[in-house]
Amino acid sequence: MRILLVCLGNICRSPTAEAALREAAEEAGLELEVDSAGTGDWHIGSPPDHRMTAAAERVGLTLDGAARQVTPADFERFDLLLVMDRTNLADVCALAPDEASKAKVRLFRSFDPDADGEEVPDPYYGGADGFTHVVEIARAGARGVVAHLQSMHDRDPSR
Ligand code: 4NP
Repeated sequence: MRILLVCLGNICRSPTAEAALREAAEEAGLELEVDSAGTGDWHIGSPPDHRMTAAAERVGLTLDGAARQVTPADFERFDLLLVMDRTNLADVCALAPDEASKAKVRLFRSFDPDADGEEVPDPYYGGADGFTHVVEIARAGARGVVAHLQSMHDRDPSR
């Protein structure tokens, strides 16, 4: 399975979800290829935001990579494109080449049965708490995604 995490800038939420998903897959012994991208182009080539990196590091999660923009080719490369909010959902769906591609786009938190909201709030213009909150949401969301993939595999081992 190949999964792309998508937010607006690819410097806060999606790199965090990417690291959390990699961690959760490793813990579960699940082989996953994970990457992240942004719908916007402002931060292309930049490392994750230092406030986000610090919040993640405080709980042992290391963020890396450089921001890139999501492209139509990502629908061929990835099995699932998991987005952080409804604006990302609309923007990514608008890039989808066909209906089957659109069906690969889902809200990241929709796999977390205990989620208290459907979106990962954008922390960029807020205070430190927002970044800490994103890390917690990312970790819970990632566990939900892994549980979903495992249950799919249990029902159909060819997947
Ligand atoms: P992200 O956060 O989408 O979680 O990476 C943002 C990063 C940058 C901006 C907005 C949100 N920005 O407006 O530049």
